[in-house]
Amino acid sequence: MRTRREFVQLAAVVAAAGSLGREVRWASSENVQALQTGTPAPTDAHVDVSGAKSLRAHAEARGLLVGCAAVPGRLDGERDYADLVAAQANILVAENAMKWKALRPAPDKFDFRGADAILAFASSHGQKVRGHNLCWHEALPDWFDGTVTKDNARQILTEHIRTVAGRYAGKLHSWDVVNEAIDMKSGHPDGLRKSPWLELVGPDYIDVAFRTAREADPVALLTYNDYGIEEESAEQTAKRERVLLLVQGMKKRGVPIDAVGVQSHLSASDPLPGAGLRDFVRELERMKLQVVVTELDVNERTLEGPVSDRDAEVARVYKNYVTMMVAEPNVSAVLTWGITDRYTWLDAPKYERPDGQPQRCLPFDADYQPAPAFFALRDAVDSRRPKG
Ligand code: XIL
Repeated sequence: MRTRREFVQLAAVVAAAGSLGREVRWASSENVQALQTGTPAPTDAHVDVSGAKSLRAHAEARGLLVGCAAVPGRLDGERDYADLVAAQANILVAENAMKWKALRPAPDKFDFRGADAILAFASSHGQKVRGHNLCWHEALPDWFDGTVTKDNARQILTEHIRTVAGRYAGKLHSWDVVNEAIDMKSGHPDGLRKSPWLELVGPDYIDVAFRTAREADPVALLTYNDYGIEEESAEQTAKRERVLLLVQGMKKRGVPIDAVGVQSHLSASDPLPGAGLRDFVRELERMKLQVVVTELDVNERTLEGPVSDRDAEVARVYKNYVTMMVAEPNVSAVLTWGITDRYTWLDAPKYERPDGQPQRCLPFDADYQPAPAFFALRDAVDSRRPKG
């Protein structure tokens, strides 16, 4: 199996040969096969999508926030990456840098360097920042098990939220206060996931997290964020219903909540999201809640055939999905989970393509060139009715 970098290099060689008008005679049979089955095609190098042609400019003209998950080490160390994020996004979220695992090297220590770097970058580029996240069953530090017990979990959770949300109080657009708390397979009567927080704090941990977050930061939009609630399938419809019940219950109990994050990790081969999600967004609108598309990408692991066909299919999903979502006035922001295929989490073993080729799931390809998904996303942003 080839690594992504080898594919990128091969594509670059093919592109160079192509631009010299040469046939790729030197390709090994393996390479030829890879080319026929969809090695990344030479990109349309240097298509200008900067300035007024950027996603950011198109979104700003329509009062919409668009952006991506970012990684502090790359914002600092990689010029092309940093330039792209600065040019295309007006809102950022830390892909990992604000999770417990990153912030909490030890029970009594906080490390804010990565998180601070995201805020510093955003501030120097006039971008907003989402916080992700304050309470999740994943990305917990290694010391968690063994240190956090039924006796201290509530205190450790609230102290974490006070410290972290307090540090950035007034500086963030929103916080994913609780992430992925619903899991239909856990068998809980309220659909709650069997998570360490449920087990150690109890079912009111969500209320506790939101109330503490509001005390620590009265400004940030407090968001409940989840996945698997986009599609029309029975499973996702049921989960959507559970999320709605959760949020309705919180409202009834006077728990502060301002928004719901729809992660939007979509799959290219699945039927497109439709009326079920639209009704959900409208129901949230009636409850005066905003909706944020928080982690959009299109997993294309099942797509076969030439790259151009795969790209067209991915772009079709972006266009349809984002057009549907931004037609709803309470959808206030759209963020993709990364910006370039070079660094997508979908190349991890769990999600990678069976043929080992890199995923083409984000608006920019691995060489930072705009993919068809970029133009699809920009068209969808253009469909947003301007404010006013
Ligand atoms: C992912 C990151 O992209 C990876 O780098 C990390 O290894 C695991 O987490 N839902 C979420 C995100 O809320 O935090 C996850 O991010 C992707 C799924």
